[in-house]
Amino acid sequence: MRTQVAIIGAGPAGLMLSHLLARDGIMSIVLESRTRQAIEETIRAGVLEQGTVDLLHELKLADRMEQIGERHGGIEFRFRGRGHRIPMRDLTGGNEVMIYAQHEVIKDLVAARVQQGGEIVFGVSDVQLHDLDTDRPRVSFRRSPEAPTEFIACDFIAGCDGFHGPSRSSIPENVRTEYHKTFPMGWLGILVEAPPSSEELIYCNHDRGFALVSTRSPEVQRMYIQVDAQDDIANWPDERIWSELRSRLATEDGWAPIEGPIIQKSIVGMRSFVCSPMQYGRLFLAGDAAHIVPPTGAKGLNLAVSDARVLAAAIGEFYQDSRTDLLARYSQICLRRVWKAERFSNFMTQLLHRFPEHSAFDREIQLAELDYMTSSVHGLSTIAENYVGLPIEWGT
Ligand code: APR
Ligand code: PHB
Repeated sequence: MRTQVAIIGAGPAGLMLSHLLARDGIMSIVLESRTRQAIEETIRAGVLEQGTVDLLHELKLADRMEQIGERHGGIEFRFRGRGHRIPMRDLTGGNEVMIYAQHEVIKDLVAARVQQGGEIVFGVSDVQLHDLDTDRPRVSFRRSPEAPTEFIACDFIAGCDGFHGPSRSSIPENVRTEYHKTFPMGWLGILVEAPPSSEELIYCNHDRGFALVSTRSPEVQRMYIQVDAQDDIANWPDERIWSELRSRLATEDGWAPIEGPIIQKSIVGMRSFVCSPMQYGRLFLAGDAAHIVPPTGAKGLNLAVSDARVLAAAIGEFYQDSRTDLLARYSQICLRRVWKAERFSNFMTQLLHRFPEHSAFDREIQLAELDYMTSSVHGLSTIAENYVGLPIEWGT
């Protein structure tokens, strides 16, 4: 097989890249190890930055998002039993976020790609990358564990295969630096059958730990609580989860979450990770393959999409103008935005969680920081502009 760009992984990064390339008339093949059903059903986060929303519109992929998604112009920070609104739309000249689940984005991107005749091979195994330091790299794979090995010859490989995929580890260890930070807490996330408890997201700091109220639809809500990173979901019967949500989210004026049957629950760890550079020869990493953020800033999907934008522009320039300027600067352009998103996600995580090592002094500093951030227009604006999404800086 031969194509221009071999894309490994059909997550937001890989699928978005295949759409952007197709718009420029560039061929790609996407290889995905899981089934279509599995990628369309995995529950992930669901906050799209303004730039991600705009891009989905540009690509005419926004119909279902506009029907089912919800535009939010503000979020609430809650601490010491009181809510403080961050009016993002007003503070950023009209920018908002869209609450629309990642797996719904995946459904839209896959359906449109399949309908356009794009090639996505699901359920592949044994994906390996070859000849990365030549201008004819190849990817080998099997269509099933028993099937024979096939090769795709291409001009570029896009490693969009998430944190555990084979792409990043194909970059020799001596040419990459990996930056890691593991947080001592995890998030226990639930899906609840109930009407929304709040019109906007609530990020809550409480002595018992962080809590977050999000939403999915008028009938299904998404909520999270901070738990120990090592905790087991078996320790969390539904009533214990509700009791924590009630205690942490309680306000002076008697606010309580609307309860209902919990239809899904799981615990995820929290970490930060960056691989630098994001490129080696003809291999370009995008999304979680190159970086991970803790979920507090809601940046994971949006970073995957902005990497795909930069990579598509760089590959487009290569085919249209025979230039490699943007390709050469791919890593630099992406990492500049990535590190700012790492910074914001780290800041939000530090601001909103209880840390086991915090002294009484540290705790008061944290509350003073929350007070400052939510009462100064500069504090509010800082959170607002980062939350709705920073621009891609294309310059040097
Ligand atoms: N071969 C082929 N595909 C693979 C392989 C492999 N060996 N390993 C992993 N994959 C696939 C995964 O099954 C997954 O569908 O690569 C895809 C990577 O998708 P994501 O993990 O969603 O990563 P990305 O596209 O970078 O999007 C990042 O997803 O995990 C969330 O919070 C994260 O919101 C962020 C977003
Ligand atoms: C979600 O709705 O899943 C969600 C919202 C905000 C976050 C993280 C996750 O910061």
